[in-house]
Amino acid sequence: MIKTVSVAPMMDCTDKHEIYFLSLISKNIHFYTEMIVSNAIIKGDRNKLLSFKKISNPVTLQVGGSNPKELAEACKISEDYGYKEINLNLGCPSKKVQKNKFGACLMQEPSLVGRCIEAMSNSTKLPITIKTRIGYNEVEDFEFLKKFIQTTKDAGSKKFIIHARRAILKKLTPKENLNIPPLKYDFVYRLKEFFKKDEIIINGGIKTIQDIKSHLEKVDGTMIGRAIYHSPYFLAEIEKKIFKNYDVPSRSEVMENLIPYIQEQTSKGVQLNHIMRHTVGLFHGQIGSKTWKQYLSKNMCIRNADLQKVNHIMDQVKKTNPLSLER
Ligand SMILES: Cc1cc2nc3c(=O)[nH]c(=O)nc-3n(C[C@H](O)[C@H](O)[C@H](O)COP(=O)(O)O)c2cc1C
Repeated sequence: MIKTVSVAPMMDCTDKHEIYFLSLISKNIHFYTEMIVSNAIIKGDRNKLLSFKKISNPVTLQVGGSNPKELAEACKISEDYGYKEINLNLGCPSKKVQKNKFGACLMQEPSLVGRCIEAMSNSTKLPITIKTRIGYNEVEDFEFLKKFIQTTKDAGSKKFIIHARRAILKKLTPKENLNIPPLKYDFVYRLKEFFKKDEIIINGGIKTIQDIKSHLEKVDGTMIGRAIYHSPYFLAEIEKKIFKNYDVPSRSEVMENLIPYIQEQTSKGVQLNHIMRHTVGLFHGQIGSKTWKQYLSKNMCIRNADLQKVNHIMDQVKKTNPLSLER
């Protein structure tokens, strides 16, 4: 099985613009979209929600929902947009998500989860996969997790992404749920020992190349969220040190390569800040990073961006770059 590294689904972060921007840094990373609710796909502007500029990296659509019929319909609708896989969110703990009965609270209803996955699998040729947690509330028990994963597997899930901490549904905010419940990587390693032939991906708190390397010795893939969102150029290091691809653009080349996309998207009516907000962390850790952030916060909300404004941004990149430590 080929070992993978992926960018985690993150609401309001991993939209189509972020995915395109990151694809300019890494050719080998696997992307997951932010969660899109099945009902929105059915009733909303599906082209706006689902279309994205084609890239060579695999992109997975993540959906949220708990109604098997709706999820199946959403999968069918999404099938021809170019996604490699459809992933069901079984890990999000937000109150809104719980109210609508999807995300992590579905761990309490394994048979419903099974019916959802079965309906999704029967509706599309694309592989259906899941992303979940090691447990919920007081339930942090390997036998429970094993059984839950077995249920999703029997229903048709082809890959299992595990955020290695439990979700505390009532007492913690979504942000606290990303930090307070302790990470227990051992649960995920044990799952891999049990489901030897299945693809098990570990997620949660992965921040360094060494973290990635040591997890990849035990499981089939690593998924990284915040460390990449806050510092997108971490992907360049991953590309070089994990995938041994040394042909990686510099930070300013990434920005230059983004310009045609900005021109294309803004000419279709996309607001400049919807793209540029993802680039805030590009110079993270470099001298000049602060200037870049200040420049963006002053200028990226300009409506109806035209070429002249885009060129202003590039001037700033050029000013920032000589100060930075990059090659
Ligand atoms: C801002 C934000 C939004 C998130 N949205 C989603 C989501 O839509 N679907 C999902 O499965 N997980 C979501 N997550 C959880 C991440 O996918 C990931 O599991 C979590 O951040 C732990 O990984 P990390 O420590 O590498 O960030 C979100 C996390 C953050 C920080």
